[in-house]
Amino acid sequence: MPDKDIFILGIESSCDETAASVVKNGRTVLSNEISSQIDIHTLYGGVVPEIASRKHTERINQVIRKALTDAGKTLTDMDAIAVTYGPGLVGPLLIGVSAAKAMSFATGIPLIGVHHIEGHVSANYIAAPELEPPFVCLIVSGGHTHLVLVEGYGKYRILGMTQDDAAGEAFDKVARAVGLGYPGGPKIDKAARDGNPTAIRFPRGKVGDSVYDFSFSGLKSAVLNYLNEKEMKHEIVNVPDLAASFQQSVVDVLVTHAVQAASEYHFKKLALAGGVASNSSLRAQMKEACEKRGIEFFCPPPILCTDNAAMIACAGYYEYLAGSFAGLDLNAVPGLRLGER
Ligand code: KG4
Ligand code: ZN
Repeated sequence: MPDKDIFILGIESSCDETAASVVKNGRTVLSNEISSQIDIHTLYGGVVPEIASRKHTERINQVIRKALTDAGKTLTDMDAIAVTYGPGLVGPLLIGVSAAKAMSFATGIPLIGVHHIEGHVSANYIAAPELEPPFVCLIVSGGHTHLVLVEGYGKYRILGMTQDDAAGEAFDKVARAVGLGYPGGPKIDKAARDGNPTAIRFPRGKVGDSVYDFSFSGLKSAVLNYLNEKEMKHEIVNVPDLAASFQQSVVDVLVTHAVQAASEYHFKKLALAGGVASNSSLRAQMKEACEKRGIEFFCPPPILCTDNAAMIACAGYYEYLAGSFAGLDLNAVPGLRLGER
């Protein structure tokens, strides 16, 4: 442990949120500035990469300045600048990486490249300062669905991942199909509160003999077929029932896989991460399943589940402790895999 406080400036721009944050000693958030582009992308029903890049360019300097001001710090107070360099959209990633490299070059402050998914996992360290590895983590976002054993800081063993759509992607596509709009996750979550989760029996995705992999494209097709059939018969769709039934099908699979992993590998702690971890039904059912099996359950508040830079600064802190710094040749890696450097 360092004998002085360590301040990390985190920067996140991998998709449609321009974010910057100052975190002290990896766990105390001094500022968490997020500029969302959702309103613009809603017009197109999803994220338009070129528009996202342009908006990041317009906003990044103000967002960074605000994060430093809110924290009562200046750039030269920072011990390192941690930036998401993958996975994500290449244009948006490049804006954050370029800004971080320019600041590092101008000031000599060390640069750290952070894996976006590691950032999501690390949101749990902020929400639960007592949490230490090992634990099982289910990362469910718009682009990823990973079930991993977090064996140490920055040390992951991937048990399973999605073979097609990510969980959040399934939420977004189903929401669009029923006319709820973008982003679909929160809208399905809200509509489902008035619906019956057993009204329609949708399939639970399974991938051959693989215990821990996920598949959501069959479920998405089942929902689309259901909607087509209703349309052909000129029948009205009960949107809350459909939302609740679809959501239950996703939640069932996520909960079953995650608690089975904790039991099989004798892990006593289980954490959720990623945008879909803000789903109220997933949080409630995972908590209940963990309690039944004596597993301690962790889940960040929704603001730390969706994309933010505090989680990037937190992950960056552990890279800082490991002495894992990046050079000015750091580049965006859109397809960066978990565990890869
Ligand atoms: O982690 P995130 O902000 O971005 C990625 O790294 O992908 O996750 C965004 C995803 C979107 O697909 C969004 O629909 C989903 O998280 N999401 C939700 C909820 N809030 C956000 N999905 C289900 N229920 C929610 N309440
Ligand atoms: Zn994310």
